[in-house]
Amino acid sequence: MSDSHNKSNDKGKGPQRPDEGSSDGSKKVPRKAVESALEMNPALKAELASMDPAKAAEALTKMDISQLLTGLSVGGKNQKDMASYKFWQTQPVPSFGDNAQKKPITQGPIKMINPDEVSKTPDALIEGFEWCTLDLTNPTELQELYELLNNHYVEDDNAMFRFAYSQSFLHWALMSPGWKKEWHVGVRASKSRKLVASICGVPTHIRVRGERIKVTEINFLCIHKKLRSKRLAPVLIKEITRRCYLNGIFQAIYTGGVILPTPVSSCRYYHRSLDWLKLYEVGFSPLPHGSTKARQVAKNQLPAQTSTPGLRPMEVKDIDAVFDLLERYLLRYDMNQAFDREEIEHWLVYKEQPGKEQVVWSYVVEDPQTHKITDFVSFYNLESTVIDHPKHEAVRAAYLYYYATETAFTGDKKALKERLLVLMNDALICAKQAKFDVFNALTLQDNPLFLEQLKFGAGDGQLHFYLYNYRCAPIAGGINEKNLPDENQMGGVGVVML
Ligand SMILES: CC(C)(COP(=O)(O)OP(=O)(O)OC[C@H]1O[C@@H](n2cnc3c(N)ncnc32)[C@H](O)[C@@H]1OP(=O)(O)O)[C@@H](O)C(=O)NCCC(=O)NCCS
Repeated sequence: MSDSHNKSNDKGKGPQRPDEGSSDGSKKVPRKAVESALEMNPALKAELASMDPAKAAEALTKMDISQLLTGLSVGGKNQKDMASYKFWQTQPVPSFGDNAQKKPITQGPIKMINPDEVSKTPDALIEGFEWCTLDLTNPTELQELYELLNNHYVEDDNAMFRFAYSQSFLHWALMSPGWKKEWHVGVRASKSRKLVASICGVPTHIRVRGERIKVTEINFLCIHKKLRSKRLAPVLIKEITRRCYLNGIFQAIYTGGVILPTPVSSCRYYHRSLDWLKLYEVGFSPLPHGSTKARQVAKNQLPAQTSTPGLRPMEVKDIDAVFDLLERYLLRYDMNQAFDREEIEHWLVYKEQPGKEQVVWSYVVEDPQTHKITDFVSFYNLESTVIDHPKHEAVRAAYLYYYATETAFTGDKKALKERLLVLMNDALICAKQAKFDVFNALTLQDNPLFLEQLKFGAGDGQLHFYLYNYRCAPIAGGINEKNLPDENQMGGVGVVML
């Protein structure tokens, strides 16, 4: 779901900012208001900064203050106002203007749903296509979803990389505790039976500022390239919503690289090279001006061995300890994943199975004296296909997943930072040992404490978090007005979406 491909990994500290005088021409909003609005909207500010200054100035003149405040994007694919979101304006999601109003936001569902009034049948599809429910326990159907995604799922803007979710990954992501077959929705061509579109969900719980909500995590919205721009996405979204409503789940969480009404939080992608040379060869990482290949390789070198005493792979016997530690750690964030024990086992413990690739890597730190689990860190494997490359077929990317440390509860922020620096450096070393090429992380959780120091480079990609049928005040995404990781903007997002 997340659009994290990034070729400008080591480009430096963010794009050029637009001419400071660019907002002078604004007829609608005084310059001062524009400035303070942009302070509150780092994603928009970053987007303006990457545009030609004249174009950015022109775009600003066309926006009003609520647009500026709400994360609405200005350039290219994101250039839309609320009225032009023909589908999304009909859905129970906050409008762009809502957060800009001075009124306090009442947190809670936007619309009350009576399951008895929900249609028992899906909407009709365009002629020649029909609904299907995928049976992912059937290897043939799993393979079909795999092929659809491998050929048609998220690519970077220049079509150089495309996410390549493995079958083991799909198994892991879509058959978590409580999973429902009906939420693996597909569309087939009636004649050929070919799978041409998908949208999937799994049930879970999140907490938003103390409120525990039952949600569906929506993922893998994908439409065959030949069927794009036919308004099929809204039909898919409505269908999975209907199936969730019928099952008594009225809220959902989803993420995306595009701006829709209205992000509850926005984070930025960061990338740490593990095999710089390969990333350079595939066009993911450029050679920074004035540097050399040898210097880049040396800069990204890591020690061969981890340094934390007692660090070892997580095992089944650690589940209770990790559950307890992670629960306390996640409660520190405004929006966090409310795992239960079964979910901890499913999402975090790797169990070797013949024919199945490893998807998740989890480590615990067991205190050598007390044998207490004091820390935990995990990452997952999500490869990207390198499209049409003579030498390399795929980039192996590790994505930082959940982590926790007892140090957080000492109240000493400096100590927390030091502990995370060591723990995450060890995670990088483990990922390198597991032959990953790059280690990706967002600015969520406590990541601003270590990203820059551990040589993560700023990515192009922004990841927006959305809640369906739930309103709440904006949640910090770990970035400041310069779109850079900021320790004062932490404590917002404690949910990692695949
Ligand atoms: C995303 C994708 C399904 C959209 O399909 P499409 O054919 O371009 O769009 P359609 O004509 O069917 O529908 C357009 C509507 O869907 C909305 N939409 C587009 N992408 C969306 C997304 N990722 N999530 C939710 N809604 C989305 C649009 O905003 C528009 O609604 P609006 O009128 O309210 O603005 C398709 O481009 C695709 O499969 N892309 C590759 C995979 C991908 O990016 N998936 C999403 C991962 S977050």
